[in-house]
Amino acid sequence: MDILQAIKNRPSIHSFQEKEVPEHILTEIFSYASYAPTHYMKEPWNIKVYEREGKAPFISEIMKSYQRIGLFDTGSDEKTEKMIQSMSEFLLKIPHHALIYLPIEEDPVRYEEEYAAVCAFIQNAQLAAWKFGVGMLWTITPYMHDPGFAEAIGLSAEREKIAAVMQIGYPAGIPRNRGRIPITEKLKFIRK
Ligand SMILES: Cc1cc2nc3c(=O)[nH]c(=O)nc-3n(C[C@H](O)[C@H](O)[C@H](O)COP(=O)(O)O)c2cc1C
Repeated sequence: MDILQAIKNRPSIHSFQEKEVPEHILTEIFSYASYAPTHYMKEPWNIKVYEREGKAPFISEIMKSYQRIGLFDTGSDEKTEKMIQSMSEFLLKIPHHALIYLPIEEDPVRYEEEYAAVCAFIQNAQLAAWKFGVGMLWTITPYMHDPGFAEAIGLSAEREKIAAVMQIGYPAGIPRNRGRIPITEKLKFIRK
């Protein structure tokens, strides 16, 4: 696949087949991703892939976090239970959840650089995945900023930042390409 075509045509995937992506393909995708630019060769990205029986405890912690931070009620009323159940079922059907995290740097400039490198890593992963027919959705949701969630999955909220969770699988549907604003509307050449 031509790189320029991949850049233009890669869609975010919102619905997945239940079929798993083989481990060696996921490993290859993240291996390509790791060729992202990285200042001082820090390669700050780390990935935890939740799949199979690993998904249920991960998703349960997401639900607990949503209750802790007030997105869901804390009571065990029927409406809340139903909401938790339907969101859990939706997430459980996604074959892989790849949580991407990086060490928090004390120096804000360094921290920005490391986060930027991780974002480049994520986009490389999305592009490489598309080459293998694998779809991804880059997600950032409030539980990623909940220290209780980080601790529950074995990370330190003080030392590690969760950059994103990538939902991954073979696409069940491909959204239409919504295109982009012509870049000429945003591009300026300053020549004097
Ligand atoms: C940093 C970041 C966070 C995102 N978070 C979400 C998310 O939480 N949920 C979601 O549905 N899409 C999320 N997206 C995907 C965007 O919605 C998507 O890229 C946009 O709609 C353009 O569609 P495309 O990727 O198919 O071109 C995120 C994208 C980025 C770059």
